[in-house]
Amino acid sequence: MSRVPYVAGNWKMHKNRGEAVAFVKALVPRLPAEVDVALCVPFTDLAETAHAADGSPVAIYAQNMHEQPSGAFTGEVAAPMLIDVGADGVLLGHSERRQYFGETDEALRAKLVAAHDAGLRVILAVGEREPEREAGETETVLRRQLEATVGRIGADQAAATTIAYEPVWAIGTGRTATPELAQEAHAFIRGLIRELHGDQAADAVRIQYGGSMKPENAAGLLVQPDVDGGLIGGASLDVEEFAAILQAAAG
Ligand code: PGA
Repeated sequence: MSRVPYVAGNWKMHKNRGEAVAFVKALVPRLPAEVDVALCVPFTDLAETAHAADGSPVAIYAQNMHEQPSGAFTGEVAAPMLIDVGADGVLLGHSERRQYFGETDEALRAKLVAAHDAGLRVILAVGEREPEREAGETETVLRRQLEATVGRIGADQAAATTIAYEPVWAIGTGRTATPELAQEAHAFIRGLIRELHGDQAADAVRIQYGGSMKPENAAGLLVQPDVDGGLIGGASLDVEEFAAILQAAAG
């Protein structure tokens, strides 16, 4: 089954509104036709980037949300609020959220369900830390993260969830996983989705690689059979670099 490549930028805590809108305007004329594209932007950029991307193929994602639709949760943002400002989706479970903000798989499952129910698209990030890889625990970690989240939602919602495999040791470090190592992890993840939700979901689910993906190494990663795209941090802040990765994804 052929899956449409899917490349997303994760801006993290970067870009004010003016910079964000200028980026979207510069990106749109550079988009290749055969690639799905998303930008995960700070909350404060959502409304204006969504407006700037209106009528273009660029999807706008938040980088987090709360699982409740409303309530006494000071400082939090709910899925219906994301919809209200024009967001198309939400990035959930990034390793920085897990590490610095204590996000658990249990909380992520609740967020995943709430996001899908609200009509948001989801990119769910998973991945092992360096000591876990060194201890040979990569597959155990991925199984635990995925069974507790996409394993506990319906097959249709699981198939519609984009999974981002991001080995934590490769994020922001310049140490990309080799194409072979990425393929191995992606094949494991697809096999797990097959085990949990059957062939249709496994063949449909898109799995992005994230962790120091750049124009120079993107093609080698993206050509792997189970690597369906990328989640790009640092290189997504520069429109030329991000557009070059999109070109690599178009093949
Ligand atoms: P990086 O970040 O591309 O800067 O390594 C990836 C991510 O954190 O999603």
